[in-house]
Amino acid sequence: MATATAGAGLEGVVAGPTTICNVGQGQLVYRGYEIHDLAEHATFEGVAHLLLVGHKPDDEELKAFDAQLKAEREIPDLVIDVIRKSAKLPNAVPMDILRTAVSVLGHVDPECQDNSPEAELRKAVRLTAKIATIIGHMQNVIDGREIISPDPSLTHAGNLLYMMTGEKPTDQFARVIDVSLILYAEHDYNASTFTSRVIAATLSDMHGAVTGAIAALKGPLHGGANEAAMEMLQEIATIDNVEPFMQNAFETKRKLMGFGHRVYKNGDHRASILHTLGRQVAEQKGAEAVRWFDLGEKVQHIMETQKNIKPNVDFPCGLTYFVMGIPVPQYTPIFVASRITGWCAHIMEQHQNNRLIRPVADYQGPSDLKW
Ligand code: CMC
Repeated sequence: MATATAGAGLEGVVAGPTTICNVGQGQLVYRGYEIHDLAEHATFEGVAHLLLVGHKPDDEELKAFDAQLKAEREIPDLVIDVIRKSAKLPNAVPMDILRTAVSVLGHVDPECQDNSPEAELRKAVRLTAKIATIIGHMQNVIDGREIISPDPSLTHAGNLLYMMTGEKPTDQFARVIDVSLILYAEHDYNASTFTSRVIAATLSDMHGAVTGAIAALKGPLHGGANEAAMEMLQEIATIDNVEPFMQNAFETKRKLMGFGHRVYKNGDHRASILHTLGRQVAEQKGAEAVRWFDLGEKVQHIMETQKNIKPNVDFPCGLTYFVMGIPVPQYTPIFVASRITGWCAHIMEQHQNNRLIRPVADYQGPSDLKW
């Protein structure tokens, strides 16, 4: 039975229940734990356990979970081959290569077609471990270097940085990436997660649902905003150009990437956490890195004072990853390396209490034509 038409973009529509995450104006909560608490005291591995297994791990559980992740870091030769071949294609950007690689991972996962809770948890751990390796291998292939084996002495975040660059990161840099992964891990029914739930609700498989979610995350209105925000700052280039650029953007109604949010009206809880850490990295890196943060802060000040629009997490993320020397086209893949945990938690929640997601459209076309 049809009811009232939802607003454009389903704004404000409560699309279903979840026990995984609460995105509120006052706080962001993962399974009861507030994001500032997690960013200060948890690790990405602990948050992944919280989201996937369903509770905060004790020391033994965390050790075992971490060991499982480390044991699953290697990826099959077939997937390495796909990365090598795709990276040579002129139109394939890293998010597309990652999407294809994850789809191929499904072909070789022995439990691909098994949607039982036990198999899905094992697949979620495998995907979380292997996506970081795909990103690392992809960057080496793009840079024309040999691929680097995962290092079991490093954390998930530290190993991700190491595999991308070939250099062991400092504890501080590894922790900044770790916190960014914690912040990106989950955000209720955002576009990519909702995509994954729609796919899962047809009783399709986890790898397929994740592949669709990666495609949804790629867009610059969603996860692709961390790359787009940094590209915009590079286009602005100098502090003197901030004001004319912004004036022009306002006059032409150009959207500024990394600003605004569908749900948060008073600012994104995650943004200031990452901004503080990113600025600390910039100050260590030196004057040129600080200049980028100064430039970003000027953009932010004008947006807030003239438009009352605040940055979302993708704005400080773009700046932070940039001053750390991470290539811009890998920012959204790194988002995937984190959000994979939220997606998989939602796919499992959907499968455990499933009903097909199938709304109706508000048809506005003609109906009296003759063929
Ligand atoms: N730059 C300039 N104006 C903006 C922006 C922006 N980034 N965001 C919103 N506005 C204005 C918009 O022009 C509109 O003004 P008016 O009412 O005068 O026409 C008003 O604010 C409402 O905007 P909207 O586009 O209707 O809001 P929405 O809820 O449909 O869109 C959004 C939310 C995130 C898509 C949008 O803010 C946007 O395009 N931001 C830039 C892209 C971005 O940073 N995306 C990341 C989203 S959060 C994290 C994630 O998903 O990764």
